[in-house]
Amino acid sequence: MGAEIKGAIEYSKGLEGVIAALSSISYIDGSQGKLVYRGIPIEMLAKYSNYEETAYLLLYGELPTKEALENFTQQMKTFRILPKRVEDCIRELPPNPHPMDILKVAVAHTALYDPDRLRCCREGVMSKVIRIIAQIPTMIAYYHRARTGQDIVPPDPDLGHAANFLYMLHGKKPDKEEARIFDVALVLHAEHGLNASTFAAMVTASTLSDINSAIVSAIGTLKGPLHGGANERVLKMLDEIGTPDKAEEYVLNALSEKRRIMGFGHRVYKTYDPRARILKEYAEYLSNKYNDRRYIEIGERIEKIMIRELGKKGIFPNVDFYSGIVYQFLGIPRDLFTPVFAMARSVGWAAHVCEYVQNNRIFRPRAYYTGPDYVEYVPIDKRR
Ligand code: CMC
Repeated sequence: MGAEIKGAIEYSKGLEGVIAALSSISYIDGSQGKLVYRGIPIEMLAKYSNYEETAYLLLYGELPTKEALENFTQQMKTFRILPKRVEDCIRELPPNPHPMDILKVAVAHTALYDPDRLRCCREGVMSKVIRIIAQIPTMIAYYHRARTGQDIVPPDPDLGHAANFLYMLHGKKPDKEEARIFDVALVLHAEHGLNASTFAAMVTASTLSDINSAIVSAIGTLKGPLHGGANERVLKMLDEIGTPDKAEEYVLNALSEKRRIMGFGHRVYKTYDPRARILKEYAEYLSNKYNDRRYIEIGERIEKIMIRELGKKGIFPNVDFYSGIVYQFLGIPRDLFTPVFAMARSVGWAAHVCEYVQNNRIFRPRAYYTGPDYVEYVPIDKRR
């Protein structure tokens, strides 16, 4: 029957607090502001790990041995190349759409040339997964080069995941320090439990669809301003504010008009997001390095005002607040901030999909029915 549940039943708007899966991938303590991947605190990974090692940890459940990491890194490098027809298609795509839409097209397109495309997520898809994670940066960089009329820069097998992306984007090798900062940003964005985009990927995979379809669902979900799309809007807001002395008026006006301040608040964290803390340090560092404190000063002023006004409600900066300032200094165009989030999070999406389908059950929640009990069908010529 189409009718959903009626009568007394617990209902959680936005599925808040609902446990929808068992997972050993990451844990968030929202009241203490702690995040661990497979038990390892994010601060340790930011200090000692890199994206490739973190990706291995998330996918396989433990840190790799030296040899396993070398093999994994090599596999990622080999998989960076796109099928020729996907590359040609990216060159031909119009320059105006949001790059998140391009990314959906490119991930869907690669599936068409994959001999294993009909294999569902449950059938040992690890090499497909690694291929997608490795290809997403190439898709983003190629599209950006093509839309700006520049030659495409093929991946450089001598460079790691983070440095290679900056290289393909800018056409010159990044300095080591900036490549490392970007690498840490990718580690910080790699995984975050059952956030909306990960859940979207899991819902798709739970029907035993294929991994590309699951990733396309996730990209479409991450795009929204309440999720990954917030980082781009933070920079827009900083530009609108212009100078730190205008921040107070801007924030108070926005709050009085019930508008959201992008980069603040989180469903799980009711205190400072530990990822934002690390990214803020890098934003400070880069602002000083480039002697351009315009954005960081406005950002810090907004943070103070928001914590003063809404801290008691558990509203603090989230990962998206300072990441944009960091990316800006790394020369990443603003509309690529969310694609860069997708590039990092692709491993979290894949890890959850692979974990969930091992003990799969199709996701199928119910809606609490609020419509009428019975309505007579009125023939069309008798309707008013
Ligand atoms: N600015 C102003 N007020 C806010 C904000 C904000 N950024 N976030 C939450 N609130 C208020 C909200 O108005 C509500 O107040 P009241 O109880 O008086 O109605 C209360 O806090 C709870 O908000 P909610 O919408 O019920 O909280 P949620 O858990 O459903 O939403 C959120 C979480 C992230 C969507 C929300 O905090 C938000 O819209 N933030 C701005 C967008 C943003 O920065 N998104 C990135 C999230 S972190 C990275 C990621 O996952 O992508």
